[in-house]
Amino acid sequence: MNLPLTPSSPPAATLPASAEITAQTTAAVDAAITSRRSIRAYRPTPVPRATIEDILAVAARAPSGTNTQPWKVTVLTGDSLQRLGGAILAVHNDPAQLAAQQEEYAYYPHQWVSPYIDRRRKVGWDLYSLLGIGKADKARMHAQHGRNYGFFGAPVGLIFTIDRILERGSWLDYGMFLQNVMVAARARGLDTCPQAAFTTFHRVIARELALPDGEMLVCGMALGHADPQAVENSLLTEREPVAGFTRFRD
Ligand SMILES: Cc1cc2nc3c(=O)[nH]c(=O)nc-3n(C[C@H](O)[C@H](O)[C@H](O)COP(=O)(O)O)c2cc1C
Repeated sequence: MNLPLTPSSPPAATLPASAEITAQTTAAVDAAITSRRSIRAYRPTPVPRATIEDILAVAARAPSGTNTQPWKVTVLTGDSLQRLGGAILAVHNDPAQLAAQQEEYAYYPHQWVSPYIDRRRKVGWDLYSLLGIGKADKARMHAQHGRNYGFFGAPVGLIFTIDRILERGSWLDYGMFLQNVMVAARARGLDTCPQAAFTTFHRVIARELALPDGEMLVCGMALGHADPQAVENSLLTEREPVAGFTRFRD
């Protein structure tokens, strides 16, 4: 089966019938998915531009309603990454300016209920206890949160934006694209951390990246090589078993 490809797309493998899927293929795809975790400390090793382009080209094979392809990506490396991080941290570390920031869209619910609040608390405390940050240590929490804005030391920062005119369905499509980026990165031995933390600073980002008015920030993402020595990278999050979120009806 030959799929029509744009010049920037990677060559399509022929689509194997289910009988032709080898155990190796299954293992490789499952490993790319299940070995992904949010990585919050990176080595400085650069990621070649060609690799970034490959990842984005593969990720752009994500489905989208009527093939609308709502994703727009700004790739930051070197000075541009440092500049954005510095501009955000200047605001993040100034209580008055920080208080004046407002998310452009609500990523999280306004009212937290179980089981979501419990899971949220657990991942937060698990991360902080690995880092030796106590519940009362607001200054260290603030500093750890601030590490988001340097993309946790990753050599590549991705900023994802979307045309404002697009609706909720396109955000669903966008999530598939984001997951593809993370899985395609894993398939190349790279790591990521999706970052909604940037949404608080959408005005700073729009200014620094000269985003068109019609575009809004979706999230950011760190991309690079995990630092295996960093204690925060040992965080393993839990998942509900299938029976906990699935109803089978015969
Ligand atoms: C869209 C999105 C935004 C996220 N934003 C942040 C963030 O700003 N900072 C952060 O450290 N982790 C962030 N995370 C990571 C989540 O905390 C993480 O996915 C979750 O705890 C599950 O852990 P895992 O990714 O290691 O499996 C985000 C995840 C998603 C999907």
